[in-house]
Amino acid sequence: MFATSSGTDALKIALKSVGVGPGDEVIVPLNSFAATENAVMAVGAVPVFANIDSSFNMLPDDVERLKTTRTKAVLPVCLYGSCMYIDAIHRIARKADIPVIVDAAQCFGIRSLIGHCDLLALSFNPFKNIGSFGKSGAVLTRSPELARLARQYSYHGFAGSVKKNIKAQDWGLNSRMDNLQAATLSVKFHHFENNARKRCLLAARYHLLLADLSHKMTLPSDILQNTWHLFPVLLCQGERDSLFAFARERGVELDIYYPVLSHCGEHPLATGYSRREQFGASERIHSALFHLPLHNHMSFQEQNIIIGVLHDYFK
Ligand SMILES: Cc1ncc(COP(=O)(O)O)c(C=O)c1O
Repeated sequence: MFATSSGTDALKIALKSVGVGPGDEVIVPLNSFAATENAVMAVGAVPVFANIDSSFNMLPDDVERLKTTRTKAVLPVCLYGSCMYIDAIHRIARKADIPVIVDAAQCFGIRSLIGHCDLLALSFNPFKNIGSFGKSGAVLTRSPELARLARQYSYHGFAGSVKKNIKAQDWGLNSRMDNLQAATLSVKFHHFENNARKRCLLAARYHLLLADLSHKMTLPSDILQNTWHLFPVLLCQGERDSLFAFARERGVELDIYYPVLSHCGEHPLATGYSRREQFGASERIHSALFHLPLHNHMSFQEQNIIIGVLHDYFK
């Protein structure tokens, strides 16, 4: 593992390390934070969007369908903390000899992930399950060769041998983690396990105390390997806007974190996207999505208020 100055840079470095460059294609899910597709475009490649299912994860079948001779990497995202299908995606990609980079910005703590990819990118921005005071991230790999390349791309392409400031690559970023972020993280790591347990406990309480509303809202099903970065819910009945307004009046903020799917934006990449009809199933899932508040400083009393508001709305 080595530290970078952001999760976005960690993704760019990982992509460069497996040789992704101009004109190449990288398969990404269509529901991630913009950093995922932006990192692909920053190295000159084209993001190819894959469908998701109700676990909000990229579908392995879509990786099979979308891979071409131009596919230079597959980039699944452990969105909201769920890492479902990463091993299946890894199996498909390995068979086709395509490297897998996992965007684990929201999934720090699932140790088995590193066994299902070539490189893994982390973010430690302040909103993450473990966050520094500012921007920071990391790249992980088990391959000494990829680690060497990633290190070079993270700092001006320098060879990094005993001789200083000699380039081994055409270019590289200036993306080493700064000292202040490293210092804060070295303290915050000690609290990570407890904070992770608290998130699991809050997620379990949502499952338990909202079980009677299962005909109104579908709660996440992948409960075993999940960091609960966010708590996504699918509304089975009614309108999100009226639920949001009802909750807001009672002091509860419900939200949709990434409200626009990648192919639906108003910028040239999205508006130029052909064959939009292939994303119908993902769009239907996305149109029912919202997030319940969950963070490791939340008290049970605060969570009970949210649960109470949901019961009041649906009664
Ligand atoms: C899924 C995902 N990928 C990448 C990133 C980028 O991380 P950073 O903000 O550290 O650049 C984030 C962070 O917001 C993220 O949520």
